[in-house]
This record gives sequence, structure tokens and C-alpha cells, in this order.
Amino acid sequence: MPATPTDILMAEHRIIEKVIAAMRRFADALSSGQDVDRPALAGMVPFMRQFADAHHHGKEEHRLFPVLVACGLPAENGPVQVMCSEHEIGRQLVGDLAAAIDAYGPGAPEDARRTLAEALLAIADFYSQHIWKEDNVLFPMAGRVLDPDSVAGVLAAFSEVTMPEDQRQAFISYADGL
Ligand SMILES: [Fe+2]
Ligand SMILES: [Fe+2]
Repeated sequence: MPATPTDILMAEHRIIEKVIAAMRRFADALSSGQDVDRPALAGMVPFMRQFADAHHHGKEEHRLFPVLVACGLPAENGPVQVMCSEHEIGRQLVGDLAAAIDAYGPGAPEDARRTLAEALLAIADFYSQHIWKEDNVLFPMAGRVLDPDSVAGVLAAFSEVTMPEDQRQAFISYADGL
């Protein structure tokens, strides 16, 4: 059976989870006084902004969710609205991480290390629960409301927003290499 829109999104969740796991490891290392791989750390912000947000959330918010609403899920006061507002919170948390990374230069004060560890853990905790809700609540609902024509329409819409393959592969390699 061909992949459904939610199969594709869940496969991307598994990639995002690799970066989330590394965020927890980095936070643990920083909390115990160790340094972390700075290029790998710096790569977390573009990964979260370009892969997790622009690419992945972009498909959810602009391609899947409107079709779910057209198929009967509430536009407001339901899981679609909750997921969209969580994406906004995620953007703020990634902004906090970017600022914390900037402040964590050589010779940075102990506060900067603690703030960075907290920023990493905040994103890891936030995205773990966000992904859980989509995988276990919203996407099963999607499976119930989407008819075959809607599935085909969302798949076609997804193919329009796919990032260049070499860029996508670079983000997947980055996540695998952490
Ligand atoms: Fe999402
Ligand atoms: Fe998602």
C-alpha cells in the first residue's frame, strides 16, 4: 500500500526524534560540566527551522490540516488548532536555543552553560509531547476522516513543498550522525 500523508509525517517525526535525543544528551553533558560538539550544536537551529518547521510543520499546517478541516475536523477548539499553536511555541523555543548558543562562546559564564542546557531540554520535552499527540491522537483521527481523494490531494500537495533532495539528505545525514 502506498504511503499516506501521515505515514510520511511520522517518518519525519522519527528523524526529528534523533535530534531531540541528541539535545537531551547535550543538555546532560553540559549539566555535568562537559563541553559538546559545537558544530553539531550549531546545526540544531537550522535543522529545527528548516527541516522540522519550514518543511515538516509547513506540510502539516498548509497542506494536511486544511484538508482535515474540510473533511470535518474543527478548525478551532480542537487538535488542529492546538497543534498550530504548539508549532508557534516551538518556534519561540528554537529562538531561545539560538540565543543560548550565541551566548555560549569560549569562556562563557556558568550561567550561559545552564541556560543552554535548559533551552535544549525545553525543546526536547516540548517536541516529544507534540510528536506523541500527532502520532497517537491527530493522525489516527486523520486516518478516519480522510477519504481516498483527499489522501491523493494531500500527497500531491506534499510533493509541491518537498525541499531539494540534496538538502533533505543533508538534514537526514546530520540527524543520523549526532
Ligand atoms: Fe506538528
Ligand atoms: Fe509533526
